Amino acid sequence: MTSTLNPKKPVLKMDNVCKNFGGVIAADKIALELYGGEIFGLIGPNGAGKTTLLNLITGIYQSDDGEMFLLDKNITKVPTHRRARLGIARTFQHPRLLNRCDIKTNILMGSDLANKRKIKGGKLEEDMNMLLKCAGLQNVNLSDSIEKLSYGQQKMLEIVRALLCEPAVLLLDEPAAGLNTKEMDYIVALIKVAVQKDIAVLLIEHAMDLVMGICDRLTVLNFGHQIATGTPTEIQSNEEVIKAYLGGSCNVKS
Ligand SMILES: Nc1ncnc2c1ncn2[C@@H]1O[C@H](COP(=O)(O)OP(=O)(O)OP(=O)(O)O)[C@@H](O)[C@H]1O
Ligand SMILES: [Mg+2]
Repeated sequence: MTSTLNPKKPVLKMDNVCKNFGGVIAADKIALELYGGEIFGLIGPNGAGKTTLLNLITGIYQSDDGEMFLLDKNITKVPTHRRARLGIARTFQHPRLLNRCDIKTNILMGSDLANKRKIKGGKLEEDMNMLLKCAGLQNVNLSDSIEKLSYGQQKMLEIVRALLCEPAVLLLDEPAAGLNTKEMDYIVALIKVAVQKDIAVLLIEHAMDLVMGICDRLTVLNFGHQIATGTPTEIQSNEEVIKAYLGGSCNVKS
């Protein structure tokens, strides 16, 4: 994990990004900077705009206003597939995999789309095996149908797929939701691999123990508004955040 006073250039920068759906404000002048090797949390109540932000970063949604930069490149109008090639990888709130394909095809699909497969050659297999081990999936039969994997295993596989693309930014949409404690440990191990590789990780999660324990910084969304940004300690003592989201019952650790 990096210091909050990171002197490096941001890998991803959002500058006053806005998105409305009819009368619903899903993103209101969002301003964020993510740094390589940093775990940045994105939290807030249901419907706050967290997934919308990921869809804006990946280009699935076009922003109504504002700009986004991946290092020096303005990506505001860049289409989704090119953003993937430029180094933005993600997972989905509910796993999105090719149900009719085997496990290996699903894993390699990401690096294919990111155009990394040919470049990496034999090392791809080595990296894949290392990541599968981190995810506790080293014993799965790669030629099995993806549907043989449990929900938790599918969520982990999505992270493996994303990491194999060697992205600059990894966007994780509630990776721990619906997972047991052991599976959560695997998620943490995979996130730590990303940090070691100097990837900027954006983590959406409702599991507060996980978020507060692992993130360097966090931003809190409420009705599309960014109500606070800071370290876990700062966020946990922010009155607006407590009122809007954390409440009094949240069991968090620093
Ligand atoms: N494609 C869309 N069309 C219309 N409204 C949308 C669309 N996508 C999101 N919204 C609305 O934008 C708001 C933010 O939704 P979003 O899915 O980003 O919330 P979230 O913070 O990810 O919530 P959750 O914790 O439940 O996943 C909600 O009011 C949602 O209904
Ligand atoms: Mg969501």
